[in-house]
Amino acid sequence: MKDKIKIFKDKRAEAMLGGGKDRIKKQHEQGKLIARERIEHLLDKGSFHELDMFVVHQCTHFGLEDKKYPGDGVVTGYGTIDGRLVYVFSQDFTVFGGALGEAFANKICKVMTLAMKVGAPVIGINDSGGARIQEGVVSLGGYGEIFFRNTIASGVIPQISAIMGPCAGGAVYSPALTDFIVMTKGTSHMFITGPEVIKSVTKEEVSFENLGGADVHMTRSGVAHFSAESEEKALAFIRKLLSYIPSNNMEDAPYAKPEDKPNRMDKEMASIIPDDSDKPYDMKKVIKAVFDDGEFLEVQEGWAKNILIGFGRLNGHSVGIVANQPNFLAGCLDINASVKAGRFVRFCDAFNIPLVTFVDVPGFLPGTAQEYGGIIRNGAKLLYAYCEATVPKLTVITRKAYGGAYDVMCSKHVGADMNFAWPSAEIAVMGPSGAVNIIFRKEISESKDKEATREKLVAEYAEKFENPYIAAERGYIDEVIEPQETRPKLIAALESLMNKRESRPPKKHGSIPL
Ligand code: HXC
Repeated sequence: MKDKIKIFKDKRAEAMLGGGKDRIKKQHEQGKLIARERIEHLLDKGSFHELDMFVVHQCTHFGLEDKKYPGDGVVTGYGTIDGRLVYVFSQDFTVFGGALGEAFANKICKVMTLAMKVGAPVIGINDSGGARIQEGVVSLGGYGEIFFRNTIASGVIPQISAIMGPCAGGAVYSPALTDFIVMTKGTSHMFITGPEVIKSVTKEEVSFENLGGADVHMTRSGVAHFSAESEEKALAFIRKLLSYIPSNNMEDAPYAKPEDKPNRMDKEMASIIPDDSDKPYDMKKVIKAVFDDGEFLEVQEGWAKNILIGFGRLNGHSVGIVANQPNFLAGCLDINASVKAGRFVRFCDAFNIPLVTFVDVPGFLPGTAQEYGGIIRNGAKLLYAYCEATVPKLTVITRKAYGGAYDVMCSKHVGADMNFAWPSAEIAVMGPSGAVNIIFRKEISESKDKEATREKLVAEYAEKFENPYIAAERGYIDEVIEPQETRPKLIAALESLMNKRESRPPKKHGSIPL
């Protein structure tokens, strides 16, 4: 037995070395951790159980038959985060540059299948040169098997992708199918075609970083949801993110006892909104004043800044927050904002996370760029997502709620359960100036002092419609509340809705305007 245990230990030690000491050294010199180190940072200490450590590829082309590494370039298994079960795969760049072949893909598929059977999240750490060229179409098949499982698992178990090296070509579509992408700054890249191909086809010259680095995907493309300065920070962040999310679509998110009192009222909230209703303010101040311990885990912080999305807690219950941000584009809804918030609303709905929406929206962003870009089709995504969502939906109108954007932003009419408005709310078809120009055009043009007439009519319109009371008279607003009451009111409403059950007509699935 002793000898056999020794053989086993030697084999295991060989497997632990991945592509060997030199390649590990190179990886470290590039400021990158190796696959198992990443898993250690991600999971609770000592909780990892590795599977398929001795799997090797069966390829016999291009000399690969003589090059076999136990584990075949991906470390897979399960462990815990804050005591909760998760499944993990971590691509090992030291073995064939983390390139994916048949055995490698099978290992990933195995943990995905197990995770779906037991209802646990999957976290994939990506660091790979893409399809293993020597294995040809077999590696494309492997990717396809993973994409299929990503899609089947979508809305059933949370899937999170960390990008910690190259992720190129069709390989990007596995992370893209998952719920959240976290990229490391300076060491990760995602693109469909690299700089060389781009140069030969379009003559554009672009660096790896400017094409597919973390900053690009955080600010321009909206592909990434979070970025981190280091791998350690990215992995610690994933642990935090999971604390807001249930393990599967049959569970509720973990409860986190707050330090904060549920009835805390912050008098300062009354001074967040400027007296001049055309002046911007920072909606994050409202969010921080309302949620437990002032915490807001923002998602896609740098992209479509005119809308804020993220997680917070109300008296310990995890909620998804969507809020117009008057500090950018006056909080208008545009294509990117609609896509950003629409996807988030659907994620929260799929995973039983109630939604809290803060509204200060002057309307949809005007312009040919928006119209030609399909604001109609894209704005419809957010509308669809809110209509479809059956989780508890709470809405607070802080200031403007104009036109179609009023309806879209979780109004009573699209199924909100509780709609609050601050006394500063302005709920109307459009702002006073635009409205007067249309309905009193004749009176204004025929009057002697056009400007004075216009001003008088604008003041009259504002007096009549720039308030929450007409909507409240109809029951579109359930309660007009003082700003400082927002936290206790939202908590009471949320807790009253905890047993909410709402169903939709049975169907295979809807046809969301993609
Ligand atoms: C097989 C690969 C590989 C690949 C890298 N390697 N990519 N082996 N298939 N796709 C191997 C290298 O031969 C090398 O082996 C080791 O990994 C490390 O690679 P280096 O080039 O030395 O590393 P580095 O200089 O850091 O460059 C990393 C890289 C580069 C930028 C990722 O390796 C690269 O451009 N690789 C090719 C990427 C590619 O074109 N992939 C196919 C994309 S298409 P040794 O033994 O020397 O250490 C695709 C389609 C997916 O993926 C479709 C899904 C549907």
